Amino acid sequence: MTAPGREGAAHAREHDGTDPGALRRRAVDVLLAARERTAALTGCVPDPELSAQHSPLMSPLVWDLAHIGNQEELWLLRAVGGHAALRPELDSVYDAFEHPRAERPSLPLLSPDEARRYVADVRGRALDVLDRAPVEGGGPLVRAAFAFGMIAQHEQQHDETMLITHQLRAGPAALTAPEPPPAAPDTDGLPVEVLVEGGPFTMGTSTEPWALDNERPAHERVLAPFFIDTLPVSNRAYGHFVEDGGYRDPRWWHPEGWARVRRHQLTAPLFWRRDGGVPGGWLRRRFGVVEPVPPDEPVLHVSWYEAAAYAAWAGRRLPTEAEWEKAARYDPASGRSRRYPWGDEDPTPEHANLGQRHLRPAPVGAYPRGASPLGVRQLIGDVWEWTASDFLPYPGFRAFPYREYSEVFFGSAYKVLRGGSFGVDPVACRGTFRNWDLPVRRQILAGFRTARDPEPC
Ligand code: AVJ
Ligand code: FE
Repeated sequence: MTAPGREGAAHAREHDGTDPGALRRRAVDVLLAARERTAALTGCVPDPELSAQHSPLMSPLVWDLAHIGNQEELWLLRAVGGHAALRPELDSVYDAFEHPRAERPSLPLLSPDEARRYVADVRGRALDVLDRAPVEGGGPLVRAAFAFGMIAQHEQQHDETMLITHQLRAGPAALTAPEPPPAAPDTDGLPVEVLVEGGPFTMGTSTEPWALDNERPAHERVLAPFFIDTLPVSNRAYGHFVEDGGYRDPRWWHPEGWARVRRHQLTAPLFWRRDGGVPGGWLRRRFGVVEPVPPDEPVLHVSWYEAAAYAAWAGRRLPTEAEWEKAARYDPASGRSRRYPWGDEDPTPEHANLGQRHLRPAPVGAYPRGASPLGVRQLIGDVWEWTASDFLPYPGFRAFPYREYSEVFFGSAYKVLRGGSFGVDPVACRGTFRNWDLPVRRQILAGFRTARDPEPC
């Protein structure tokens, strides 16, 4: 019989996810969830559409599919399991660094059926590796089943990429989902911004078991006080910038952003089209459906340049990455940084719009249970939020397990996005999670909120 004390300890370990059985079950769950989503994203169009390129910005869907399997083979079968390569000739075809997206259609890609067989074969073997992996006490790749969590996050990130490919695809809707929840009834009474006190807070993490290298280590940052928007910027607010001639006035724009506006004759977010016949005057195309732009939804498909131009027009600025994270994680009552705005519990459908449960952001003011201690809403889910910051390593950064995940992207070319979108799975979304992209990108599921310094007294 187990002594009551030991049982209590085992229960605690089970609860906090450090028990090897619980860790393995969690790893299996997130791998299966990712595969279900991958299967849906690659099963909802006829096979020829999987091999076609729908936009020069994106890979054919069948490339993403086999790349998912190839990364899983590299990390779970070869690095963790010590297996030999199943198909050594595939490594170069599915290496994202060897072939830019525009070139991928001309590679000797696996057919959709070959790709499906390959990913299923890899997965079967990966689950056998997981059964035997020393998730407790092994090296950093297997400890806490890290590599398995990393590969589930990788698959989910490509699922978001494939969701964007579906958005860029011409033709009728292939995906469906229920509508997101409405704005909470108190929305109109919310303050437009909140004051985040100055002083230190803990940024990043050294304890989150599946945090990726760029989120580490935890370190102190000291910030000046700042105001940040309670809600993401809505289509209505962004529309005022558009109607005020925002896209015709170089005063608001970064010089490179202004050059893009001129060269591509930009007048509104990507996928918007003027139509005098609808209220508000704009239509948009969303996953194959044309509809009036919904005024109360967070603005979506804007570049960093558009976000920064709006903020300048509004007499404000984008929050820095550190400000965003302090607004999202810092609890003024305890002085601690939490895992999420609402606390330490994993996201549920009550907290945030994640995981492609809906095919659009929820209206601004939704998800009151996901609010931060200061009342800031929708920091997690709905739309990725552009920040003012370049993608840079934290002090003490160490590339792990491969330089090409983060390190090769550090520098001033990429801007940081935070918080995740409706297309991000919870496994790849945390208060510390960092995304990055080029400031010109508009097809990604990005919007923003604004910030400002307090008035000098
Ligand atoms: C972190 C979203 C910028 O998609 O380029 C996928 C994630 N890294 N495969 C990307 C990633 C390698 C990455 N982002
Ligand atoms: Fe990848």
